[in-house]
Amino acid sequence: MAADQDSRAVTPPPRAPPIAHPLRIKSDPAEPSQMLPSMPQDLSEALKEATKEVHTQAENAEFMKNFQKGELTREGFKLVMASLYHIYVALEEEIERNKENPVYTPLYFPEELHRRAALEQDMAFWYGPRWQEAIPYTQATKRYVQRLQEVGRAEPELLVAHAYTRYLGDLSGGQVLKKIAQKALNLPSSGEGLAFFTFPNIASATKFKQLYRSRMNTLEMTPEVRQRVLDEAKTAFLLNIQLFEELQGLLTQKPKDHDPSQGPDLHRRAGSKAQDLAPAKAPRGKPQPSVLSQAPLLRWVLTLSFLVATVAVGLYAM
Ligand code: HEM
Repeated sequence: MAADQDSRAVTPPPRAPPIAHPLRIKSDPAEPSQMLPSMPQDLSEALKEATKEVHTQAENAEFMKNFQKGELTREGFKLVMASLYHIYVALEEEIERNKENPVYTPLYFPEELHRRAALEQDMAFWYGPRWQEAIPYTQATKRYVQRLQEVGRAEPELLVAHAYTRYLGDLSGGQVLKKIAQKALNLPSSGEGLAFFTFPNIASATKFKQLYRSRMNTLEMTPEVRQRVLDEAKTAFLLNIQLFEELQGLLTQKPKDHDPSQGPDLHRRAGSKAQDLAPAKAPRGKPQPSVLSQAPLLRWVLTLSFLVATVAVGLYAM
């Protein structure tokens, strides 16, 4: 499969000759067209350009920053992997639904790209044989899944934006993240638990990305659809960022963020209980010093009075 894949990657399909885009600027700066915003002609370039800012935002999300620093826990990794499982099930269901739709067909690479089977292996590794009942399904993951389903069913021409965001991301920064996770979580070099990051049917990620970009550039679309695709790619990044923020919140559970109306929060309850009880417990636990021990003069007066009374009673009895 790798050989087949590679040959596809080396000989990309023929592309239509480039056509001048009305919004592209390369002429004399004095011309009125200079007032229009610059927009790359190829969809692949336009997508990269349009998502540059949100990509930086995604890299700088606290969850991803910690990940890059190798500050990654098993708990955090399991959470994000379970979310990815739900996301890829939805994405690939919508891809299958649209595989014969010309708005998606050129990007249909199930053998090379699809991640569902790999994520199922990872789920079994991280959550055990009954993983289907055990894996979490967070609110931000549900929102992402819902958007994928809406797109696949009602606006399939936007599916390219979601496939681009996930698959090209996985083939780029994803490869670095794999190595970090392997080291931080002390995982076997055999790749167990990291099947998601491994693309056995892609011999060269760089060549495959070139092929994929050239395929994206063959998609025919009106300027209006193209603009919606670019907007949808930004939405896709934002859905990922919101997911990272949610997961980070679940992992840290800052006490000040706790909303009591959301039900009990065991981490916080344990922490605050210890804090709340600490000052109250100490006085109760320790024996209280008596008033006498604090007033030596009073003690002397009382002792003396007692002696005088004893002597007086003795004299009276005689
Ligand atoms: C720690 C976080 C991340 C790092 C270090 C990272 C790093 C990278 C790198 C090095 C590239 C290659 C750039 C190039 O070839 O010019 C790339 C491309 C890409 N990344 Fe990320 N990335 C991260 C997070 C993400 C996330 C969260 C997403 C989206 C879910 C994403 C989506 C993409 C996409 C779609 C591309 C392809 C851009 C293109 O060539 O058009 N990345 N990333």
